[in-house]
Amino acid sequence: MAEQLSAQESISIIETLPHTDSSEAGLRINFETQCVSIQGFGEYATNKVQVDFVDGSLSRRSQHKHLHGEMVAKAVGIKKHPNTKVFDATTGLARDSFILATLGCQMEMMEQSNIIACLIVDGLKRGQDEPELAATMARMNFTQGNSLHYMRAQRDNELLRPDVVYLDPMFPDRQKTALAKKEMRLFQLFGLDEESNLELMLEAAIQFAKRHVVLKRPLKAAPLSGFRPSHSISGRSCRFDVYVAIGL
Ligand SMILES: C[S@@+](CC[C@H](N)C(=O)[O-])C[C@H]1O[C@@H](n2cnc3c(N)ncnc32)[C@H](O)[C@@H]1O
Repeated sequence: MAEQLSAQESISIIETLPHTDSSEAGLRINFETQCVSIQGFGEYATNKVQVDFVDGSLSRRSQHKHLHGEMVAKAVGIKKHPNTKVFDATTGLARDSFILATLGCQMEMMEQSNIIACLIVDGLKRGQDEPELAATMARMNFTQGNSLHYMRAQRDNELLRPDVVYLDPMFPDRQKTALAKKEMRLFQLFGLDEESNLELMLEAAIQFAKRHVVLKRPLKAAPLSGFRPSHSISGRSCRFDVYVAIGL
């Protein structure tokens, strides 16, 4: 049940999270003049979370001179194929999509959650207002929907099939602060929570991609059963498993 709190310059909507029955804990969606953000409260209390390509850590990260050295860039294979068309099937807060678009990839992005989609659309709109980001923003195309259904439905559509499908069902847990952990837990409520679902995604992705599929995994996790990556790129906290596509 959604409840409108206030009007004029700022509106907040309160959602009870799908995995809680308590009205004492939930998610607040803030529609403010500057941006749209979400914030957990009660048991899920967090800072405001928004998609921000203009200021903040993502913007600083994208200006780093060693951006080509990002593991996601290596796993996608940007050095060899700079204009790669990538389908980001689990867009989330679009951080990886933004890094890949900054490096020249043509990004097709999909996100299933209405609430996160709202944040992405807002972030893209603010990015488009920034002249310096015009070229990058022109390479980021977002659609709200379920990627599993989409990849299955479009697997024979040559115009829509990407070179690479990127799957990131994993939330970053590098920061060890209590707040970061709470944020992670809040976001996990939106994510893939069944490994079998991930296996279906990987199977569909391997048939949809023209070149390969990149799957982000926790560093020590076993590869998904029944699938063998051609190679992996490992960092300090996560690993990128690369699977060769089998689509025609
Ligand atoms: C860990 S987040 C991705 C983070 C993202 N790589 C980033 O850089 O911000 C995973 C996202 O995938 C979305 N997702 C999971 N299954 C999906 C599906 N079948 N279709 C579309 N989005 C999906 C979840 O809602 C969640 O927002």
